[in-house]
Amino acid sequence: MPKPTQAESSDRHILYQDSVQDTEAEIDFVIETWEALRKRDAVYLREDFCGTAATACEWVRRHGDHVAVGIDLDQDVLDWGLANNVAALDASQQERIELICEDVTSTDPGAADIVLAMNFSYYLFTTRERLRAYFTNVLVGLEDDGIFFVDAYGGYESHMNVTEPRECEGHTYIWEQADFNPIDSTMNCYIHFEFPDKSRIDKAFVYHWRLWSLPEITELLTEAGFGKVDVYWEGTDEESGEGDGIYTASTRGDADPGWVCYVVAQKHS
Ligand SMILES: C[S@@+](CC[C@H](N)C(=O)[O-])C[C@H]1O[C@@H](n2cnc3c(N)ncnc32)[C@H](O)[C@@H]1O
Repeated sequence: MPKPTQAESSDRHILYQDSVQDTEAEIDFVIETWEALRKRDAVYLREDFCGTAATACEWVRRHGDHVAVGIDLDQDVLDWGLANNVAALDASQQERIELICEDVTSTDPGAADIVLAMNFSYYLFTTRERLRAYFTNVLVGLEDDGIFFVDAYGGYESHMNVTEPRECEGHTYIWEQADFNPIDSTMNCYIHFEFPDKSRIDKAFVYHWRLWSLPEITELLTEAGFGKVDVYWEGTDEESGEGDGIYTASTRGDADPGWVCYVVAQKHS
């Protein structure tokens, strides 16, 4: 029997978590922003498009009162999350998390303090009607003082067909944006993984997305009924000229070739 290649012996969900997600930084931002805007502690977080529910797991790890629910349409990915991420939590943490196989546009798992939609997952809604309907369901699913957090990306490079490799520990993560269509702003995006033994997982993840602009996102959130919508833009490290990882509510951003930011939508102003 030939030895399996590194691609054959790798798990695409572990590779994704290692190279794409930074759940600690995400939850840091969510907690800091909540504390700046609210006088009470947030308890119940809903993670939409949760996939393996890594972020929901991070929420319940942070505090003994924290409760989380993860929503995803794909039972297989939820099962992976249960067997790996949820199983790695201690007994008390496991009691405070639930993963539900449902559509985020119709789910109703009880009023949450915080709803998260990270890694641009809502870009899969390619019409204004579908995106607004999703935002409306989030609004209905929030407590009166609840807050919805999403991330967004853009910049002129995001309108190009690009393949961007990034070295990670033990593999290369490759982000490919293909077929960008300027007429309707849709594109196909792929995540590939490559290994030192030259083996490769081609199209480990495939997305058909519409590249939404920030004005479109903020206007649709407002149309859906959110009372206050702010863009949190990343500051710049003076020495390196790179992003400093600190996001603050802003009305002006820089015309960077590629940027990532957060949009924070409060149910009521
Ligand atoms: C880009 S992954 C996001 C994974 C993870 N949340 C993250 O931040 O990296 C998108 C996930 O959304 C799920 N999904 C797609 N459409 C959905 C829908 N309408 N309702 C719920 N989940 C959906 C897919 O099954 C997939 O697991």
